[in-house]
Amino acid sequence: MPWPQVNDDELFDIISRETQRQNTGLQLIASENFASPAVLEAAGSPLTNKYSEGYPGRRYYGGNLLIDEAETLARERVKALFGADHANVQPHSGANANMAVYLALLTPGDKVMGLSLDHGGHLTHGSPVNFSGQLYEFVSYAVTDSDERLDYAQIADTARRERPKLIIAGATAYPRIIDPAPLRAIADEVGAYFLFDAAHIAGLIVGGVHPNPMPYADVVTFTTHKTMRGPRGGCILCTEPLAKDIDRAVFPGMQGGPLEHIIAAKAVSFLEASTEDFKTYASQIVSNSAALAEGLANEGFRLVSGGTDNHLMLLDLRPFNEELTGKIAQEKLDAVGITTNKNTIPNDPRSPFVTSGLRLGTPAVTTQGMKEQEMAQIAQLIASTLREDNSEDNLKAQVADLCSRFVPYADLA
Ligand SMILES: Cc1ncc(COP(=O)(O)O)c(C=O)c1O
Repeated sequence: MPWPQVNDDELFDIISRETQRQNTGLQLIASENFASPAVLEAAGSPLTNKYSEGYPGRRYYGGNLLIDEAETLARERVKALFGADHANVQPHSGANANMAVYLALLTPGDKVMGLSLDHGGHLTHGSPVNFSGQLYEFVSYAVTDSDERLDYAQIADTARRERPKLIIAGATAYPRIIDPAPLRAIADEVGAYFLFDAAHIAGLIVGGVHPNPMPYADVVTFTTHKTMRGPRGGCILCTEPLAKDIDRAVFPGMQGGPLEHIIAAKAVSFLEASTEDFKTYASQIVSNSAALAEGLANEGFRLVSGGTDNHLMLLDLRPFNEELTGKIAQEKLDAVGITTNKNTIPNDPRSPFVTSGLRLGTPAVTTQGMKEQEMAQIAQLIASTLREDNSEDNLKAQVADLCSRFVPYADLA
């Protein structure tokens, strides 16, 4: 073989140690999961070698017959999962998917409505440090002060006043069900497009535990690596009249050659998501989330909005310990092998780098096979770590012992 005969021990040792970290710690980041060995295999396949700018049947390079088959499989599978007219599986990420939608539907300067970032919206929903906030005029809606949930009447009022061209639903840190029906009605009333960004909850939708926004939205975007449990990537679904514009916006609008190895891995994950097992998985994610939330409430944490209907929860740390910030909590938990992320809570007096909140999610631990009983134990471990009523070594050992019974990648260790 012409490849250099060097062993990259340095890099493969890093991969091995990262695999070990994932195998031995608790992964409670709400946007993470463990992709299946079949997904990993497709993502690591020679499909990475192929240039295939364009779409199945209309490529700029030769040799794409089999690539076309793989991409078509991915498109057809995901259309069937959501009942969508059209799918574009090429976005490299969720942010790219949203960017393509804006490029397709908007002109720079157009007005867009999305959930306020400090109430759970995503960077691509109008952050001033993101292209979205720089190119478009974003106006935000918020959760209410009283119950920290979306209030559709309030969103309607804002839409009537602001007359946006696009209304975005979807969030990065919102623990409740988002009802697409009233948002469709609001969009119709003000003549706006309706984008549902299902990045976090795509797996819950196809698993049948959250309402499917596709019958209501003009466009649905999502990431394939969160509750969907596929490779890292994005996807766009839309109605037939928007199909051409969306495709053109992705390529040649904002991407070059698609990542066909990742598209193949997306196809694998879409097949996996169509099974009865996946329905059981999605429903267990939500049961586990409820159990973890209950355990943490019993330990003295306040849950934003009073609980959770999905895969994630936001803890307000202040009632547990007024001095404890999200940043410190994340660091303390990291030290014992519990991976979480600090997160602002609605009306957080602290900065996004410090925060009063912590976001936790159950997609990954549920993939490992953990159930309500383990969630109760995790709640205790979190409380004990943050209360500092046990030694770090002891807590680390308890986390390691729990994880040793649910190793996700035993064959890769
Ligand atoms: C609601 C929402 N949209 C878009 C994205 C962007 O996805 P990515 O990180 O793949 O670009 C995320 C990621 O967390 C998200 O939560």
